[in-house]
Amino acid sequence: MNTDEAQATPGAHAFTPEARDAVYHAIFSRRDVRGQFLPTPVPDEVLSRILTAAHHAPSVGFMQPWNFLVVRAQDAKRRVHDAFARAHAEAADMFQDEKRAMYQRLKLEGILEAPVGICITCDRERTGPVVLGRTHMKTMDLYSSVCAVQNLWLAARAEGLGVGWVSIFHQADLQQALAIPRNITPIAYLCVGYVSHFHDRPELETAGWLPRLPMEELVYFEQWGRRDDRQPLVEHLRRDQAAAQRSRRAGAV
Ligand SMILES: Cc1cc2nc3c(=O)[nH]c(=O)nc-3n(C[C@H](O)[C@H](O)[C@H](O)COP(=O)(O)O)c2cc1C
Repeated sequence: MNTDEAQATPGAHAFTPEARDAVYHAIFSRRDVRGQFLPTPVPDEVLSRILTAAHHAPSVGFMQPWNFLVVRAQDAKRRVHDAFARAHAEAADMFQDEKRAMYQRLKLEGILEAPVGICITCDRERTGPVVLGRTHMKTMDLYSSVCAVQNLWLAARAEGLGVGWVSIFHQADLQQALAIPRNITPIAYLCVGYVSHFHDRPELETAGWLPRLPMEELVYFEQWGRRDDRQPLVEHLRRDQAAAQRSRRAGAV
């Protein structure tokens, strides 16, 4: 297909329906995994694929500010877990009454059970002080590393690997546990491994912590806060949200 034909045909560059459905299926059936890790080792060729997917994330000014610290040694995992335990105890005290009891019942990490930990970081000085696209919004480099996290998370889902993001740390504790220098920002500590099953809904939703928000309340038109139920898009959003639910159920295996 030449450029003119492609311009005349909407979706000319779309994936085949099967490939497109596979992408959406990965998105809707991805879960944050805490409690279902199996001890089965993750082969290096699989680990390499998901890390390479992460490295192909977008980044501001093509800065690629990330590193990937692979944690397989039990003593390193133990240090990370100790850092989690300290912050977790503090966090519980910040909730009141029934919410605190609920918080304490939640499993919020799989640091010791997951065969692999991956800490994704951000080197904010990687390409010098002036970065194309980051000149006025300084946090864009951090967001770039978050994009790497999401790429890895989705690729892992396609590989049948669960990923759980653990953020309940004092940043300095996590840095100390993994000898991360002060000028490097840890973005995500990810627990990675094969799983017994994927839940079909977020665990926090099932536990009654918070519900998924309705899409149509989140989409505004032309200016902040302006909703418009007469827009045909709104009906599509409702339908697609229901379809997403079906897709994630099909993925709950
Ligand atoms: C930035 C970030 C930090 C998170 N930190 C934690 C965490 O410390 N412990 C945990 O159990 N889940 C953590 N999560 C996972 C969320 O709780 C989870 O994504 C959310 O409940 C929706 O569930 P789902 O990912 O299965 O769709 C984190 C997610 C993000 C994006």
